Amino acid sequence: MANLALHAINKSFGATEVLKGVDLEIEDREFIVFVGPSGCGKSTLLRIIAGLEDQTSGEVEIDGTNVSLLPPAKRGIAMVFQSYALYPHMNVERNMGFGLRQARAPLAEIKSKVAEAARILQLEPLLRRKPRELSGGQRQRVAIGRAIVRNPKVFLFDEPLSNLDAALRVQMRVEIARLHHDLNATMIYVTHDQVEAMTLADRIVVMNLGVLEQVGSPLELYHNPRNLFVAGFIGSPKMNFISCTAQAVGEQGVTVSLPGDATITVPVVPDGVSPGTPLTLGIRPEHALLGERGGDAVLSGTALVVERLGGMTDIHIGGVGDGMMVLQAIGEPDVDVDDALSISLPAERCHLFDGDGKALTKLNPWQPRAARKAAA
Ligand SMILES: Nc1ncnc2c1ncn2[C@@H]1O[C@H](COP(=O)(O)OP(=O)(O)OP(=O)(O)O)[C@@H](O)[C@H]1O
Ligand SMILES: [Mg+2]
Repeated sequence: MANLALHAINKSFGATEVLKGVDLEIEDREFIVFVGPSGCGKSTLLRIIAGLEDQTSGEVEIDGTNVSLLPPAKRGIAMVFQSYALYPHMNVERNMGFGLRQARAPLAEIKSKVAEAARILQLEPLLRRKPRELSGGQRQRVAIGRAIVRNPKVFLFDEPLSNLDAALRVQMRVEIARLHHDLNATMIYVTHDQVEAMTLADRIVVMNLGVLEQVGSPLELYHNPRNLFVAGFIGSPKMNFISCTAQAVGEQGVTVSLPGDATITVPVVPDGVSPGTPLTLGIRPEHALLGERGGDAVLSGTALVVERLGGMTDIHIGGVGDGMMVLQAIGEPDVDVDDALSISLPAERCHLFDGDGKALTKLNPWQPRAARKAAA
């Protein structure tokens, strides 16, 4: 059992405020992923939870107890870093048992816990090897094993897979998902990888400049981003943004004028919007359609770069008004660089943001599958 709560965590290094009033409640066995641009405070927050760094103010609570004054070893937390930090002169078995030996656990207990971790992580054939005799993925598994043997209530992972090649990342990602399932532990995981965030998380926390921009399930953030920052951060390639102006406001939503005399009525609540209000329209590359059909407004532009990925093609399009956009088409569309293109926008796939970057609420917002089923 481990619930974790952060109450009004502030952190400054000298005059620099790095975390600003972070509040977050994490449930027992939840898999939480922190994402955000470099320098936004993810590692600092993780280190504060672990007790490796002191917060300037605020409280860290585990299972209802304020642990802010407890040293790292007493918090029941294990942290796995990007750099595995294994002891080069110790073999795998001794590396994994190191923490328990330090804590003067009985030898038999150390042996059985290391054996169990080695079994879970499929490290049994490698127990006698030194770190230099292991691949990157195997080293990372030893680092995770070292965390597992301590039987922590909470696991913290700081970009644990970023040193691995693409294939190994996928393999380790699946192993971490399985580990979460097998160990029934609470996990907090920092990553820059969109796919890791979307696939591993029960909830994603999007951070920016030391504040939490939005907390929600991966699909909630994908479909209902609360503001421009989250809309642009979640999803790859990132959402296209087009400046536009409100023309009319009605029961069907907000009608905006787009480049090239096009207009579109986006089904959103017209909160604080009147004709003339400057807005930003957002559309994901995978939701814009090539050609003049299937949408509610048509834009035109010129193909600048065509990136063929096999199953998908990303087309970078210039001259859309005075901006550009990216369209992701399935398969291998018949497009060459410099072709004049039409781009159709389905209104229900569009997002609108006000002058402060806040998303206007959709008239028919996306709901999780369970809620849709219950409503049906
Ligand atoms: N010991 C320190 N002294 C001064 N400033 C620090 C210290 N540690 C971190 N910072 C600053 O705090 C900010 C947040 O750093 P942090 O390492 O938490 O970012 P991050 O979100 O983990 O970034 P990345 O994705 O690059 O790992 C950065 O601006 C960093 O320069
Ligand atoms: Mg970091």
